[in-house]
Amino acid sequence: MAVAQTHNTAELVAKDKAHMVHPVTNIKQVLETGPLVLSRGEGVYLWDTDGKRYIDGFAGLWNVNVGHGRHELAVAAAEQIDEVAFVPTFFGLSSPAAIDLSAKLAELFPGDLNHIHFASGGAEANESALKIARYYWFLKGQPEKIKIISRKQGYHGIAMGALAATGIPTYHQGFGPGVPGYVHVSAPYDYRVNVDNLDEDGFVAQLANELEETIAREGADTIAAMIGEPVQGAGGVIVPPAKYWDAITPILKKHNILLIADEVICGFGRTGSMFGMETYNFQPDIASFAKGVTSGYIPLGGTVLSDEVFNTMAEPDRMFMHGFTYSGHPVACAVGIRNIQIIEDENLAANAGAMGEYLLGALQGQIGDHPNVGQVRGKGLMLIVEFAANRETKGKLDPAKNYGGKLQDATRKRGLIVRCSNDGIAIAPPLIISKDQCDEVAGTIAESIKEVLG
Ligand SMILES: Cc1ncc(COP(=O)(O)O)c(C=O)c1O
Repeated sequence: MAVAQTHNTAELVAKDKAHMVHPVTNIKQVLETGPLVLSRGEGVYLWDTDGKRYIDGFAGLWNVNVGHGRHELAVAAAEQIDEVAFVPTFFGLSSPAAIDLSAKLAELFPGDLNHIHFASGGAEANESALKIARYYWFLKGQPEKIKIISRKQGYHGIAMGALAATGIPTYHQGFGPGVPGYVHVSAPYDYRVNVDNLDEDGFVAQLANELEETIAREGADTIAAMIGEPVQGAGGVIVPPAKYWDAITPILKKHNILLIADEVICGFGRTGSMFGMETYNFQPDIASFAKGVTSGYIPLGGTVLSDEVFNTMAEPDRMFMHGFTYSGHPVACAVGIRNIQIIEDENLAANAGAMGEYLLGALQGQIGDHPNVGQVRGKGLMLIVEFAANRETKGKLDPAKNYGGKLQDATRKRGLIVRCSNDGIAIAPPLIISKDQCDEVAGTIAESIKEVLG
């Protein structure tokens, strides 16, 4: 369904080039090519300002879980703005929307993750998680427990603390010096890290040993927490072996190290359960969330604390000197409540599980044996087609050939928006996607790969 053109695309592109500074973008290139300007969305579809339709195969940025154009969410925001647009949560103030959402989240998060500190996005949520982990040990009389363990290829956002936990080198270049006190261990990345070709149990044991050795080297009494995404997203959709989290969590417990689950992508249905920690059946002390909590309709994030962490913070008669102006923004919280209701009413976590399996099978069937496809993997609706120059040696494609850029053009030309790079094509559509739409996504990716890589 093409939409009548209501925008002057050339004028918008010129103004964008003159005034916008695009995040995570090759600025030089976008000044040459101009941006793709998207002006309307409905369901899994987006339309550009010339009326061309695309499948949003990346759900915005892994976040538009309920799909585009949900009028209920516009109503929830408008009604809250009419009532009162803003009250803070500082100084003991509160609002019904923030209270109701925190109670709903406490009900949804497993175990005793019952206490919510709100933020506006994932990086802020992780900054809070990392600071609260340190604060917990400070209050426990162990202020020397400050170090944070995270994983290579982990992504936790770009604020300085979250960035320090992020294990993707390109995000660090030019922004140093980084925050000290962060240690990175290997990702559970079978395709590229399991170089000895160990079986699944052997690879998990190797990763567990590395963690034990790291803790022994650094000293457990200097480590506050380990942070990790249940499934690593931006670092390349790294799906851990089934028993990975079972092996990691007892080691942390034994050494009195808190576990922070970064649920910013995995949360709210994407991996086939409401939370990634449920897909892998582990219980962290702290969790961070953002993205899917409002399906991106309005910025919101937060940090969920266990009873033990919260009770420790509540014990002393002192101020908790942390928080953001927009912690618990009533409009964002109202949208969050309504959005979660949609996710539950429409069983979107289950649909993500079923459609994820179907799309994985379709991609493997259509492109899995292409000579430059090293692996097709995924969990729920987080998937990747990972490239290799050579399937035997697993060497990477030549970055000078700009395959990522060419694949981006090839997929967009065919009406699909996905994240293309030299390393692979990451796919994360809205959780409402249907089988037919999955077939279209798989078919477009297969055709595009054949066009660009032969
Ligand atoms: C796992 C994870 N954590 C944190 C973030 C940072 O979130 P934000 O960009 O909202 O700060 C992201 C963003 O993609 C993410 O994928």
